[in-house]
Amino acid sequence: MMFKARHNSIYLDWTGFVIISLDFIIIKRYFLLECERTLAGAKMNLIYMDHHATTPLDKEVLEAMMPYLTSEFGNPASNTHAYGHRARHAVEEARQQVAALINAKSVDEIIFTSGATESDNLALKGIAALPGKAGGHIITMATEHKAILDTAKRLERQGVQVGFASVDEFGVVDLQNLEALIQPNTMLISIQSANSEIGTVQPIAEIAGIAHKHGVVFHTDAVQALGRIDVDVVGDHVDLLSISAHKMYGPKGVGALYVRKGIHLIPLIEGGGHEKGMRSGTLNVPGIVGLGTAAEMAKRDLENESARLLQLRDRLAHGIEKRIKHVKLNGHPDKRLPNNLNYSFAYVEAEALILSCRDVALSSSSACSSSSLQSSYVLKAIGVPDSLAQCSIRFGLGKSNTEEHIDFLLDLLEKSVGRLREMSPLYDGAKEDVDSGFAR
Ligand SMILES: Cc1ncc(COP(=O)(O)O)c(C=O)c1O
Repeated sequence: MMFKARHNSIYLDWTGFVIISLDFIIIKRYFLLECERTLAGAKMNLIYMDHHATTPLDKEVLEAMMPYLTSEFGNPASNTHAYGHRARHAVEEARQQVAALINAKSVDEIIFTSGATESDNLALKGIAALPGKAGGHIITMATEHKAILDTAKRLERQGVQVGFASVDEFGVVDLQNLEALIQPNTMLISIQSANSEIGTVQPIAEIAGIAHKHGVVFHTDAVQALGRIDVDVVGDHVDLLSISAHKMYGPKGVGALYVRKGIHLIPLIEGGGHEKGMRSGTLNVPGIVGLGTAAEMAKRDLENESARLLQLRDRLAHGIEKRIKHVKLNGHPDKRLPNNLNYSFAYVEAEALILSCRDVALSSSSACSSSSLQSSYVLKAIGVPDSLAQCSIRFGLGKSNTEEHIDFLLDLLEKSVGRLREMSPLYDGAKEDVDSGFAR
């Protein structure tokens, strides 16, 4: 096998020689590939604890979808026969279920999309493309998901001004700074409801209040919050809100954008005028039915499930802090999702720890950026130094997790961290003076 890397700094030829000049990034990438291969080959991911990346499709959701994947194949746009009528009825029922989850006043405020990436794009680009908004200004923050950040970057290249509200050490947006950034041409503020890496929950009603005081439209990406904390577009005065099915036990490739009555957007996709002209294209009926069922379940189970997750989360947090030295919690101690923890384990490479804990599916960063092998931009934005960011693990709890899983993971973490630190020359040298600044 030959492997020639960037800058010709590493050259591996397993049939002959191995010549390595130390390029940390390349070595890390190769190590990750090896990890992936090991994990895939060994099929040892027994316990799933990466529910921010995605969630398994719930059996109840699959059952609701099945008819629309088989016998009920009608196109909801067909109004000349019963196949079309039944498909349309199923889509409208799902619209009601989604509207109920977020407490929308009217089902007409729900636009089905291919997922939250599209919903985020539609919210930002749809506002920026309105007549008279050329060269306008939008405000977001550095800890947003890439679906927001990359869209904002694209808009910036097209002449839109983009401002970033500062966040504190826990990732909570600075409301004073946010308000100070508002300009006469500010057209949109987009601040997520909760973060996918560190779980920090934002003060959505207060942000919306600031936006509306200045006549600015407010969008929130609520993907990670739905099904975990209460989301209420009326109570919180949200104008636009992004939803994804696969983060709440629904299918992948389907989502929605809530568009408050009276808010205008220019569509991204045209051709056929579906979804009131806001999103053309034949509707993904099974996906939409799955999203609707997932939304209904999320609303029904919210109270019990979030209380249960909170207990599991706290059991894990207490266990980590009691049993492992030199750890740092990333994100807010209380204002965080009930299913999220993010810890830095000083002197332990996150990838090595994940490999060592291979019986549990964990993540070192958001699923979308973990292949880039850079330190997490979210941790960077809240001031976590690179040396700790590279030692950070995200724990994303979900429906299938139990107390036994938590206890099993705690044993695994304690053993693995201890073993990896014993092998670390850095830890050896620093043993004496690492106590300050850590949980224990
Ligand atoms: C906060 C947030 N927004 C948007 C997305 C993208 O959602 P989708 O996969 O539905 O496009 C994700 C997925 O990781 C997310 O966590």
